[in-house]
Amino acid sequence: MPDCSTSYMGLRLRNPIIVASSGLTRNIDHVMACERAGAGAVVLKSLFEEVLARQDYGLKESTVDHTEAYDYYYAHLELLYGSKDYTDLIREAKVKTSIPVIASINCVSAEWWPDFAAQVEAAGADALELNVFATATDLTVDGRQMEELYYRILTTVKSKVGIPVALKISPYFSSLPNVAVELGRRDLDGLVLFNRFTQPDIDIKERKLKTTFTWSSADEIHLPLRWTAMMSHYLPYDLCASTGIKSAEDVIKLLLAGASSVQLASVLYQKGLDIIPEMVAGITEWMTQQHYDRIDDFRGSLSFHRADDAAHYLRSQFMEKIREVE
Ligand SMILES: Cc1cc2nc3c(=O)[nH]c(=O)nc-3n(C[C@H](O)[C@H](O)[C@H](O)COP(=O)(O)O)c2cc1C
Repeated sequence: MPDCSTSYMGLRLRNPIIVASSGLTRNIDHVMACERAGAGAVVLKSLFEEVLARQDYGLKESTVDHTEAYDYYYAHLELLYGSKDYTDLIREAKVKTSIPVIASINCVSAEWWPDFAAQVEAAGADALELNVFATATDLTVDGRQMEELYYRILTTVKSKVGIPVALKISPYFSSLPNVAVELGRRDLDGLVLFNRFTQPDIDIKERKLKTTFTWSSADEIHLPLRWTAMMSHYLPYDLCASTGIKSAEDVIKLLLAGASSVQLASVLYQKGLDIIPEMVAGITEWMTQQHYDRIDDFRGSLSFHRADDAAHYLRSQFMEKIREVE
């Protein structure tokens, strides 16, 4: 029987499937259910530092597919009033489960919350994931200055905690490889590719703004797949892929591209936690067929630097594939 365990940021996971930060990990019963279902680790629901969300941008009237999208904006209140509840959840999860527990903070600044990171560590979290996303709105701020924010947040947190720190980022950078390398210079332990966001929309009947939120779709996997493959070879830390992962086959693809683990949310809401053991069984079956004993035997073997025909990762337009459908 092949060994499906993997290492992520120095943490040993029984398999590469991590339940992503979401309502699926928001309380102790949910975290215990994730462990029972066979998850390799959990990332707890984020505490939000979303200052902008303190103002009501009309979200109350907006239509969303899932009430949790609403929480996604307003959960910052938990950071203001419920940080003790959060550290209590970490403590309880560490007592009642034996899988790694990764805390999560949503950050838009490095100003006032990093002390909380030390409390997260003191409560026993195995690692901390920083969900960082800053929207560029100031015309005088250039790309480099935006990137500096990520570096400042990471450096500040690393100076406060000894546990591994991951950043969960968006794909919207001019030069993602450069940012990823710079994060490595600042001792990043793991990078989650990528976060997925609610989106603005317009109700043309009411002529009003609204926020939409849908589950990810299967074809969204290609973006994390491309960037995992492009960067996994040279980064000094682990990559964890997220967005659009729906099946054992998807997990295997990302491992071949060089990810050390994956995070799932939408598919677990859509199909339930029972998909986790199915996916682990699918990975095990494939490893048996391919004669692999452990994940490291094949991880990264189809990364950009190791695949024979790596140009596939670079092609993005006007190639034969597009001509085929024209
Ligand atoms: C209902 C819901 C709530 C989420 N809440 C959070 C959150 O609090 N913090 C966070 O970093 N990501 C959050 N996410 C994003 C997920 O962790 C994940 O990165 C994203 O959904 C992409 O994975 P998927 O394609 O499997 O859904 C949420 C996703 C969903 C669907």
